[in-house]
Amino acid sequence: MGILEGKVAIVTGAGHGVGRGEALELAAEGAQVVVNDLGSSLSGEGASGRAADEVAELIVSRGGKAVADYEDVADFEGARRLVEHAVDAFGGLDVLVNNAGILRDKMMFQMAEDEFDSVVRVHLKGTFATTRHASVYWRECSKAGDQPRAAVVNTVSSAGLLGNVGQANYAAAKAGIAALTMVTSLELARYGVRANAVAPGGITRMSGAVLKDMELREPEAYTDFDRLNPANSAPMVAWLASDQALHVTGQVFRAVGSSIAHYEPWHLGASIETPGGPAKWKAADIGPAVNAGVFHSRHPGLQMGGG
Ligand SMILES: NC(=O)c1ccc[n+]([C@@H]2O[C@H](COP(=O)([O-])OP(=O)(O)OC[C@H]3O[C@@H](n4cnc5c(N)ncnc54)[C@H](O)[C@@H]3O)[C@@H](O)[C@H]2O)c1
Repeated sequence: MGILEGKVAIVTGAGHGVGRGEALELAAEGAQVVVNDLGSSLSGEGASGRAADEVAELIVSRGGKAVADYEDVADFEGARRLVEHAVDAFGGLDVLVNNAGILRDKMMFQMAEDEFDSVVRVHLKGTFATTRHASVYWRECSKAGDQPRAAVVNTVSSAGLLGNVGQANYAAAKAGIAALTMVTSLELARYGVRANAVAPGGITRMSGAVLKDMELREPEAYTDFDRLNPANSAPMVAWLASDQALHVTGQVFRAVGSSIAHYEPWHLGASIETPGGPAKWKAADIGPAVNAGVFHSRHPGLQMGGG
């Protein structure tokens, strides 16, 4: 028995790379999977749908249950139809893995408006749109007395959580998804829905655009453990999606190679108060207080309190 037996899952962008590995893993753990993929290019152009067919067929050939879906996750109505597709095909929805994404890397000063908009659209709006429609379904189930045991697993990246040069659009979208994950976990807890996020890794056509000269293989082509297999994050996604993780929500993890790490969220650190008791700060007083060394900067050249 797999840990997702009886569950119905959607995996978006599951035609290639990380999402493909996740769809195969969820199916191997017993889930019935809606394999969503628009079939676009790395930068988001075109729509062939073929990749989704290939993965759904692979799951079925291995004895699992899957259907292909070609919706654009960032199309609000398309996202609604995707959720409806899961309910029509398999009678419900328990797991939503938001993985679809594109890249259009440029330095800030060269980035065109549509390069920013298109990346934020697929990642951030796409994650919102599917989650929004799934949340309506789960809330209705809950109100009808059929409390869900549902899970959303979003996809983030160190670029969004720690920053990265040349990825203003992508990093902003991924940081937004981390925030969306927290809000989803807070708003949907009462309806039996958990929300977590995973930062994956591995060689895919997306990361291959940065890591040149690496051999691009889909997850099922790996036979031995390889740190660069994009499916290395898939077991963590399956576990978060399962009822074994009912106590885990609102969290962000990194699952790359053989390591799983917990991202600690933004939290308030050291603070300073106005010198003479509660009052509005005077701008000129802030420097001496800050330079007393209570704050730290990530950039050595900007070290505060260094004299
Ligand atoms: N590969 C890595 O090292 C890495 C690292 C951190 C985060 N990620 C994240 O993992 C996720 C998957 O990336 P990947 O590396 O597997 O890339 P990939 O290009 O191999 O896969 C992305 C898939 O999403 C699909 N897609 C794009 N736009 C879509 C849309 N509007 N609707 C539906 N499907 C759409 C594409 O057709 C493609 O199959 C992304 O969210 C990415 O940001 C990847």
